[in-house]
Amino acid sequence: MKRRNFLTLSTVTALYVLTGCGGGSNTEDGNNSAAGTSSAVALPIPELKIPTDIGGIKHYDLNIVEAKHSFFEGIDTNTYAIDSTYLGPTLLLKKGDNISINYTNKLNVETTMHGHGMHVPGNMDGTAHQPIAVGATWSAQYTVSQRACTNWYHPHYLHKTAPHVYQGLAGFIIIEDAESQNLDLPKRYGLDDIPLALQDRFFSTDKTLLDYSPDNMELSQGYIGDTFICNGAIEPTFDAEAKEIRFRLLNGSNSTVYDLGFSNGKNFKQIASDNAFLEQPLTMTQLTLSPGERAEIVVDFTNDTGDSLTLHEYRNNKTFLNININKNATDVTTLPSTLTTLDTIGTATNNRQFRLGMQSMGNFTINDLAMDVNRIDVALAQGDIEEWEIINTMNVDHNFHIHNTHFRVISRNDAPDQVPSNEKGYKDVVYLPANEKVKLIVEMPSDGITADSNNPYMFHCHFLEHEDNGMMGQFTVT
Ligand code: C2O
Ligand code: CU
Ligand code: CU
Repeated sequence: MKRRNFLTLSTVTALYVLTGCGGGSNTEDGNNSAAGTSSAVALPIPELKIPTDIGGIKHYDLNIVEAKHSFFEGIDTNTYAIDSTYLGPTLLLKKGDNISINYTNKLNVETTMHGHGMHVPGNMDGTAHQPIAVGATWSAQYTVSQRACTNWYHPHYLHKTAPHVYQGLAGFIIIEDAESQNLDLPKRYGLDDIPLALQDRFFSTDKTLLDYSPDNMELSQGYIGDTFICNGAIEPTFDAEAKEIRFRLLNGSNSTVYDLGFSNGKNFKQIASDNAFLEQPLTMTQLTLSPGERAEIVVDFTNDTGDSLTLHEYRNNKTFLNININKNATDVTTLPSTLTTLDTIGTATNNRQFRLGMQSMGNFTINDLAMDVNRIDVALAQGDIEEWEIINTMNVDHNFHIHNTHFRVISRNDAPDQVPSNEKGYKDVVYLPANEKVKLIVEMPSDGITADSNNPYMFHCHFLEHEDNGMMGQFTVT
């Protein structure tokens, strides 16, 4: 199930070449030893935010703050966070909920907060067009109107998304619906339903977080940290019950592609891609996630009592998480063989092409144009169904993310059968290895949710260094 092995290898080669031209160094021992040793910490589980109900609207009051966080024991480092010391609480939303997520900016810089994967009106999207001034509160108010999935929130400030995320701003948004609640899946948050925000960061010799400082090579080839972190901790440990465990995996990195698997080769089932369950669980041993992508997996530890294994990243040979199966099952689940029925893929009535490229070192483009907040690149109407061809014209990896809606991947390099099974569900980010292309069917829902030219949606590469440096465009939906 691993995607395109040979390309993965060539990318690894490129990365090792990269480390020769400055920046970080990737150790090859599978440990995060570049910045020293870390003592085993328990996996931090982001707090579940409890909303306040005011007149039928669930209010989530969140503060974006400067904080101090210890990645290494006893060493404080300056971070940004949301009511925490790194990352933020998990918002658990139900389809049909009327919500107001109220973000108060207590930083000394402007930022924004975008709900990645959320189907919301343009003025609630949290992009560059909805800045949150220092000291101000901005509210994303809407009715949750999409399927169960794992989304996330993160800043989207023009030219500053990468440093703000790097400094610690991100959190999970979990959506449940009647279907997800009725399926026999692990759903005890923090016990057998575990969110994992996977990232990598650079640390100085004193083990504090290195300031965000990519050089030109890292801007284009990837700003890949020397230390891999999981929910803000270095190689933490999770004590699992001997039963099915669900992990909600988020590639929350700036620009690192992760090839994930378990150290003992144990297989797992992928049950959801970015925006919905897959129709059937897919058995896999390795899973590729590019920045911004999510996957829910279920791994069965029923007969593994006493075992220890790790969640490993194969491309850079790093450990994300240690897992010990050392607790008795307290609530057994049995993964169903059918999870959902997805909508059939619509028939496109218009085609577009998006060429991802670079106009000069560190200046990225889509169709030869750098992002301009005052330019609308694509005007769509509700109900439009289009075929979008995304072409990576470069020798480095990219991906492509669309706001407001999910899409379906119908071909890779013009071959429908090159689309891996786990990419056939609802996606909002698609990985584009060097020189590859994909075709997507993109459909704008007809439910009154729109975006005008004052508050347009974005499409962009989710490698944050590329996004911040031009590889983004805007679209309206009328
Ligand atoms: Cu994850 Cu335009 O965003
Ligand atoms: Cu988004
Ligand atoms: Cu890119």
